[in-house]
Amino acid sequence: MASNLAPIPELYVSYESAQKLKAEAGNLASHDLTPRQICDLELLMNGGFNPLKGFLTEEDYDSVVETMRTKDGALWPMPVTLDVSEKFADTVELGQDIALRDQEGVILATMTVTDKWVPNKSREAEKVFGADDLAHPAVNYLHNHAGAVYLGGPITGIQQPVHYDFRARRDTPNELRAYFRKMGWRKIVAFQTRNPLHRAHQELTFRAAKEAQANLLIHPVVGMTKPGDVDHFTRVRCYEAVLDKYPSSTTHLSLLNLAMRMAGPREALWHAIIRKNHGLTHFIVGRDHAGPGKNSQGEDFYGPYDAQELVRQHQEEVGIEMVDFKHMVYVQEKAQYYPIDEVPEGATVLNISGTELRRRLAEGLEIPEWFSFPEVVKELRRTKPPRAKQGFTVFFTGFSGSGKSTIANALMVKLMEMGGRPVTLLDGDIVRKNLSSELGFSKEHRDLNIRRIGYVASEITKNGGIAICAPIAPYAATRRAVREDVENFGAFIEVHVATSIEECEKRDRKGLYKLAREGKIKEFTGISDPYDVPENPELRVETEGTDVDNCAHQVILKLEQMGLIAG
Ligand code: PPS
Repeated sequence: MASNLAPIPELYVSYESAQKLKAEAGNLASHDLTPRQICDLELLMNGGFNPLKGFLTEEDYDSVVETMRTKDGALWPMPVTLDVSEKFADTVELGQDIALRDQEGVILATMTVTDKWVPNKSREAEKVFGADDLAHPAVNYLHNHAGAVYLGGPITGIQQPVHYDFRARRDTPNELRAYFRKMGWRKIVAFQTRNPLHRAHQELTFRAAKEAQANLLIHPVVGMTKPGDVDHFTRVRCYEAVLDKYPSSTTHLSLLNLAMRMAGPREALWHAIIRKNHGLTHFIVGRDHAGPGKNSQGEDFYGPYDAQELVRQHQEEVGIEMVDFKHMVYVQEKAQYYPIDEVPEGATVLNISGTELRRRLAEGLEIPEWFSFPEVVKELRRTKPPRAKQGFTVFFTGFSGSGKSTIANALMVKLMEMGGRPVTLLDGDIVRKNLSSELGFSKEHRDLNIRRIGYVASEITKNGGIAICAPIAPYAATRRAVREDVENFGAFIEVHVATSIEECEKRDRKGLYKLAREGKIKEFTGISDPYDVPENPELRVETEGTDVDNCAHQVILKLEQMGLIAG
């Protein structure tokens, strides 16, 4: 049997052993896996991450970070690590078994902890992602979401994570291999994607299949992709809507529950290894594969064809052949797509970038048929109505007494006068009475308070409403986390109410500054507690010498400029 069709080792134990392990696991220390760790664990257990047998040990981790190989020399470009909190790590001894559970507490696996260490995250960022720059989503994840301690050790698989969506379209590596065997497919080219399929992608996949004389597997990632991407539910509906444009006898659609890191070249190589494990013989790598966008200096993290270069160097060792493509563009005179280096001389090239597509969707503008399929555009419009109909969050931040609540109230009334969307005000004081009545003003409590506000605001935004928040929110990192929560669903407008501390103290409407100066209120923002001034808010309003109505109107103008309210 061809090596790509033979079964691949999995980490699952038999049904009987799994039942026994489940019963015994009640006594084990439990770690509740994060969404990313669930994706990683699924691919570890089902052989998608072969040859890994568990989360990386410290030696393997060091070696993978530095050399893209495990200590035994196996090519593996991406650290797959189990990050946990210090608190949990302190309860775990080396040699101990722990239970790994999903977010509902269902046990998926056990792990024998052989290693426990505090990683050098900056080194990981530099070596794996190319820069210790928080503009890179995986670097941001590493520093701001991942736990401080890594645990490593072999996994015993008990059961697959449960998926309730698109069950029939999800395949393990062995299920795919069995499908290829059944269909008699020998050569199969994989198309990795985290975007809806447009005409350029279709052309690219047709050309790739022809070039490799292979069958085609459309293999989109439905685990975690780049923040801000079209959600996977919508994307899968888009893929299904255009599947009949492919010959069904040579094309298959299968969903991959991978958590992407957007690591460009290293990620492309990782994808190639994962596809090899899924029984593929060929793998398409286009322009800027798994690119994370711009860094904090506004430059690309990686060159557009760096990923192709790295995969080319290693394809033989991996055992999968790369089908590389230049950027595909539409040539008007030929009414056809071409790789950019094959465009006939003097021809008119048309192109719509991802950003331009998002703009057209956001503004409800036309999306031409040469660019995408009407079925796809219809699905996208269903999920993403024009901005003037989407939910959004206005997040005021500033010192106590800066005027946040007053401006927020005025803004709420103005938006209610316009109508069309429900408006909710989450004022600092209101929230502390209702949502956060048990909290004080330590950093920990303030963060919890703001994260709660962010959670409610993101739910309101998701459901098409307007959330107006007006807490002090003194910490930049927490404001950023709230922004990320909200931007999954709609726009986030940070408004810095830039009243100086001197002016706030002079006004001292609630008499709190006096008490703070006398030491009767501790940890008072601006007096005895820090405030990180927002560096790049969408809007900064100066209240000294400007009346409330005008301040609120400045916000309205900003919302209009951003297309969030119809002109
Ligand atoms: S935070 O930091 O965002 O959680 O604060 P917030 O929820 O907005 O609450 C701020 C209001 O609580 C009053 N207050 C204090 N503020 C700052 N520091 C200390 N130690 C403190 N103790 C009580 C204060 O009146 C704030 O009201 P606003 O609406 O901002 O004037």
